[in-house]
Amino acid sequence: MNRPILFITRPLPQPVMDAMPGHYQMLAEPVDRPATAEELRCGFSRADAVICTLADRIDASLLSNTTQLKIVANYAVGYNNIDLSAAAERGIIVTNTPDVLTDATADLTWALLLAVARRVGEGDAWIRTGNWTGWTPTQMLGADITGKTLGIIGMGRIGQAVAQRAAGFRMRILYAGSHVVSSPPGLSWTWQSLDTVLTHSDFLSLHVPLTDTTHHLIGQRELARMKPTAFLINTSRGPVIDEAALLSSLEARTIAGAGLDVYEHEPTISPALCSLSNVVLLPHLGSATLHTRVRMGLICLDNIASALEGRSATNRVN
Ligand code: DGY
Repeated sequence: MNRPILFITRPLPQPVMDAMPGHYQMLAEPVDRPATAEELRCGFSRADAVICTLADRIDASLLSNTTQLKIVANYAVGYNNIDLSAAAERGIIVTNTPDVLTDATADLTWALLLAVARRVGEGDAWIRTGNWTGWTPTQMLGADITGKTLGIIGMGRIGQAVAQRAAGFRMRILYAGSHVVSSPPGLSWTWQSLDTVLTHSDFLSLHVPLTDTTHHLIGQRELARMKPTAFLINTSRGPVIDEAALLSSLEARTIAGAGLDVYEHEPTISPALCSLSNVVLLPHLGSATLHTRVRMGLICLDNIASALEGRSATNRVN
């Protein structure tokens, strides 16, 4: 019997690589750089199953050049990199990795929020110059977090996990989103229109998937509604923010700062953004803990096993 062919576009953490079932035929050893268009084309044309990452663009032309592909397991919760309807037209299952990365992403959102409000990156960089001469009463004054208003755009799994962490900071929580989500016992959050959340938040955190509707959800008009003392945090997808508009707001200080883990033209980041002191920039680390990334990989393998054995894949999104 022919062994099913598995194509992986990037090496996954070692415990996941070790867990690959021996009865799969690996197409090629994955290499630690983005797969080229030709490598993707070649892999997709031969594989029964693919594990790809958010950096791989899986479009209709790639999917139309497949012969036996049954499943594309995206190693991410977001799947804006995949043409879902083109996959569905060819009967190809697409899956994602929800739930297991909720806490890691919520934690990192808070790391960015705390870092930008309390100028952690600036302070660290200053110490490393060797030029710090000691404590002064006016040095590097930041913004308070406790008791302030946190605005969440998109109250899904990650938005809720971010909001729950705000309890320790006694924050007022407002959120905007397509549906009302009741708050858990002991915590209170309130649905408001996007404009109201923009206007009242001291910290605004984005947790929407990237779709045609959310592309540039935060642009010049929305930024202009934010308080000049407010901070914008993004751990969702870069194109949810119009980055040129954000840059202008940050330069003009019409908002106080931003904490960004994702970028509109990832991995290209505008040098102007990098030159600003009122931003904290991370290289898309939302789910980047070993435990989380291993669990994401095991979910991909689980979904692949289901699809190849004709069972329904738990995390199917198309
Ligand atoms: C996701 O899963 O969508 C994250 O962005 C990966 O870190």
